[in-house]
Amino acid sequence: MKTIAVFASGTGSNFAALTEFFGDERRGVRIAMLVCDHKDAPVVAKAHAANVPVFTLNYRDYANKAAAEAAIVAALPPVDLVVLAGFMRILGPTMLAAFPQRIVNLHPALLPSFPGRTGIEDALAYGVRVTGVTVHYVDAGVDSGTIIAQEPVRVLPTDSFATLAPRIHQVEHILLPTTVAALLAD
Ligand code: GAR
Repeated sequence: MKTIAVFASGTGSNFAALTEFFGDERRGVRIAMLVCDHKDAPVVAKAHAANVPVFTLNYRDYANKAAAEAAIVAALPPVDLVVLAGFMRILGPTMLAAFPQRIVNLHPALLPSFPGRTGIEDALAYGVRVTGVTVHYVDAGVDSGTIIAQEPVRVLPTDSFATLAPRIHQVEHILLPTTVAALLAD
């Protein structure tokens, strides 16, 4: 059995997709912990409902990012992969050194286009007719690590955030679990 930790900050629809996908024990992957930087985020309740251990922290309780990340590293059980699924923070050297080439991130655009926190909005504002979803390794940059998997999503001329975002999320909910499963099967 392989193990993963999932980091998320908000709604947790991708966390839910991961728990559903890996809820099938035949896939051989267990979610060993959710790490969340907002104790009241909806994803925390989803983890409790799925019986996934939770570690929440408020970065403001720590002297700096390195101290906060040291607390995360200390709280984590041994895992094969760390999966950032809507974790809205840039990881620092402490986390990167603890899990070299073993952290992946989900991004709601076709990187290297539209990095950052507003990938869906930025693709819409630019007017691209195709955007999509990326899973990539995390490095010290912002959404700049090696790309592992991508899936395109068409943008309709009539799209707004309200109509495009659900189609992006639908694709994310398949691409992220299947990519994680493939990485852990290698
Ligand atoms: C997802 O769309 C994910 O791609 C995005 O946050 C959302 C989280 O949704 N991540 C980023 O924008 C990272 N730069 P969720 O909480 O419902 O899974």
